Amino acid sequence: MTTTITITGAGGQIGYALLFRIAAGDLLGPDERVRLRLLEIPQGLGAAEGAALELQDGAFDLLEHVEVTDDAAVGFDGCDLALLVGARPRGPGMERGDLLAANGGIFGPQGAAIAANASPDVRVTVVGNPANTNALIAAAAADGVPAERFTALTRLDENRARAQLAQTLGTPVRTVRRVPIWGNHSATQFPDVSHATVGGEPVQEALAQIVGDVPTWLEQTFIPRVAKRGAEIIEVRGSSSVASAASATIDHVRDWVRGTDDWTSAAVVSHGEYGVPEGLVSSFPVRSVDGEWRIVEGLELSDWARRRIDASVAELQEEREAVRALGLL
Ligand code: NAI
Repeated sequence: MTTTITITGAGGQIGYALLFRIAAGDLLGPDERVRLRLLEIPQGLGAAEGAALELQDGAFDLLEHVEVTDDAAVGFDGCDLALLVGARPRGPGMERGDLLAANGGIFGPQGAAIAANASPDVRVTVVGNPANTNALIAAAAADGVPAERFTALTRLDENRARAQLAQTLGTPVRTVRRVPIWGNHSATQFPDVSHATVGGEPVQEALAQIVGDVPTWLEQTFIPRVAKRGAEIIEVRGSSSVASAASATIDHVRDWVRGTDDWTSAAVVSHGEYGVPEGLVSSFPVRSVDGEWRIVEGLELSDWARRRIDASVAELQEEREAVRALGLL
């Protein structure tokens, strides 16, 4: 079988880190061939074409075909998996409204092009920021495509949270499970350890032995560390997170397509779960069953967790209101 995968912003940094892992079979496994469509804006075409030449030189067994284009109708033609990475970054002096408007001008038309050209069971993952609201805009413009097919990436935040817990506990990251991210992919996100386990035991009990006062450690150390990890990477590396973002994108799409055996995190459309207003694209604990994300329901939330989630969801609501005011929804 062959899967057609469209990557927008394929000439950018995350695109460059994604393409070779997809071609090597990390996304869909060793038995699934891939056809790649690299969608760029005219200024990015050269970089995408260069990446396509390198893909050719990789001589990947699984790679059927690579096409580079700046035409969304061509880019999304027959697309099974769309990875929307290309976005407009916040420039100097740009207000939040300007940023939302600029990205609305990208994600609205891309949503419409997906509806018109992609395969009927297309699955869309938005990486480009502000990812949750970009996914909302694309879904709203994609007439006839269920909103459940539009998701935004919060897996990098979850991976960061699990890694921080593993490091603190001195345990391999694979032993740390069930650390969902709630809300927006932004500084307000809530990485939630209340149901997390390490080696099957509650994380909070293990943490208490190491950090003492767990609530204080969560408030003052863990949550800010996870939420500001992107800034830390920029400071140390001199450039934003790229390979880890690409890796998390692979994790998200692979789990969506191939299923999960435990919880993970993804920003998906709310139907009112946990009081999150209907229609918002918010991060939840999810499982993937039969190719669909299902929100893990019935979790008990402390008052503190509730306040944290509400604050992030309020930010998503503000973004939706701003986008509505701009006529983008
Ligand atoms: P980059 O600037 O290296 O690449 C972006 C590429 O997108 C450029 O080649 C540009 O030409 C292209 N592009 C811009 N508008 C486009 C359009 N309308 N159609 C197609 N391509 C378009 O940026 P990088 O580092 O690859 O990051 C991409 C996005 O991912 C950024 O918005 C960044 O904030 C976001 N990001 C999201 C993360 C998440 O966890 N959700 C994590 C890390 C980054």
